[in-house]
Amino acid sequence: MYSEKVIDHFTNPRNVGEIEKADGVGQVGNAKCGDIMRITLEIEDNIIKDIKFKTFGCGAAVATSSMVTEMVKGKSLEEALEISNAAVAEALGGLPETKMHCSNLAADAVHVAIKNYQEKRMKV
Ligand code: FES
Repeated sequence: MYSEKVIDHFTNPRNVGEIEKADGVGQVGNAKCGDIMRITLEIEDNIIKDIKFKTFGCGAAVATSSMVTEMVKGKSLEEALEISNAAVAEALGGLPETKMHCSNLAADAVHVAIKNYQEKRMKV
């Protein structure tokens, strides 16, 4: 069913919470089930210094959220934008076919948060 990595990230999720005064905020909903993922970023010199997530969703959504935070922390914005939802699922050792749609939130929420940051900077 689930890989050991999925179970590990679900039972011991990394980077849970919300960054106060975040530089970028991204929230996306899964059209299939209505679950929601929210990502907050702290960005310094084009690098993701800190990232936190809150996910109101299933175990696979929590695991993919947790995994994507580990994948992008310390990365440049360009590198983070290159990480796809499929890459997150792959890093978890895959997801059952019926749960693949759950990985649609992870990288998307990060990308939305980065775009939110870039838009805010353009307005300053
Ligand atoms: Fe909604 Fe998994 S069932 S994200």
